[in-house]
Amino acid sequence: MEVTGAPSNDSKPAVEARLRDTCRVCDSNQLIEVLDLGRQPAANAYIAPGDLHLEEPKFPLTLNLCTNCGQAQLGHVVPADHLYRSYMFYTSTSQTMTEHFAQLLRTNVDEFVSPGGLVVEIGSNDGSALVTLLNDNVRVLGVDPSRNISVVANARGIPTIAEFFTGELAGEIYTTAGPADLIVGCNVLGHVDALDDVCLGLRTLLSESGAFVFEVPYLGDLLDRTEYDTIYHEHLSYFAVKPLAHLFDRHGLRLDRVEFLPVHGGSVRGTVKRGSGWSDQVAEVIDAEEREGRSDPGTFQAFAKRVGDLRARLVDTLVRYSDEGLQVMGYGAPAKASVVLNYCGIGTDLLPTVFDSTPAKQGMHVPGTHQPILDVSAVDEHGPDVLLLLAWNHAEEITRKEGWFLERGGRFLTPHLVES
Ligand code: TMP
Ligand code: ZN
Repeated sequence: MEVTGAPSNDSKPAVEARLRDTCRVCDSNQLIEVLDLGRQPAANAYIAPGDLHLEEPKFPLTLNLCTNCGQAQLGHVVPADHLYRSYMFYTSTSQTMTEHFAQLLRTNVDEFVSPGGLVVEIGSNDGSALVTLLNDNVRVLGVDPSRNISVVANARGIPTIAEFFTGELAGEIYTTAGPADLIVGCNVLGHVDALDDVCLGLRTLLSESGAFVFEVPYLGDLLDRTEYDTIYHEHLSYFAVKPLAHLFDRHGLRLDRVEFLPVHGGSVRGTVKRGSGWSDQVAEVIDAEEREGRSDPGTFQAFAKRVGDLRARLVDTLVRYSDEGLQVMGYGAPAKASVVLNYCGIGTDLLPTVFDSTPAKQGMHVPGTHQPILDVSAVDEHGPDVLLLLAWNHAEEITRKEGWFLERGGRFLTPHLVES
């Protein structure tokens, strides 16, 4: 079945989402829908002022659970070219994340990479992580499908292939530069529809003693903290450890180690080597997931109920603020902002403006709900009483930077109704 985005009245052909009725991890068709966030535009499809009159393509945003293997995943796939070819997410806008990835590379280069060895980063973005290795005796290669961002990376001296990482591309890299002692992929696996092909590529490219180190947002945190705004078309999978371990095992790869990290609302970092099965440490985590009911339909039904309640409470709160004469504006225009605003139906009447530090987003508008995005330096001049902290995963960095706003009596409120 094909699902068509709303027809655009310019001359571009309509973009179509594909319904996926088999599991990305185990290929079974035992999928049940557990959450419906409605029809939404692509969350990173910011709109230029001159295009505001055009109809935006919107696609269903539903979460399915595979009752065979426990993988949570989107039911519809928006074509990757539509989502990524002119992507506006620049890693280097967050100081904390830049340091986080530099640290990840440093530790793993020391552990796995021999002098002159090859380090490949999948989803290398603007090269801000790999650039920290330029003075090391290692070779670096970035792979990132966003053409505009890979131009930036190449210009700063990080050779970057502007393509999706596939089994075929891995074979080409192996022939020309490989094998790789270290492959890193942070916040990449969740974006991949063809996980089997990526695993094939990893198996092809990894050296005998090499490692693939990845990070993905952790399903347990998404459920426990009701982080529904991390669900959007780019994120096709929401991983627990158990389905990941099985996925790698099927491809001659072994999940050797996992650790849990606070970034992006709670993430899991995994280390994968050539081999099969999984380590005792991973087995313990899988046991814990079973005990916590991470793949039980009932867990997801309760989650969906909390999501609906949050929507009602957030809208009530904004209406109350408005009645009290308080001015509320948004802080941060990440993809998550688009999900919250579109799902909750928060338009420019309740939230007229959003501030964001990313130069490429400034002057653009939030997809669907159309708030103009202004530089964060304009907060003071606009004088909001409350800032809806849409980039809540950077709360610490943001509240530190904007301490003056709190001192002046301003308040931050997250979409999950946490106040600071
Ligand atoms: P992310 O959640 O995808 O990392 O996106 C965070 C967004 O928040 C990004 O658009 C940049 C913005 N941002 C600010 O405006 N100010 C800040 O201090 C930080 C850290 C992020
Ligand atoms: Zn499955």
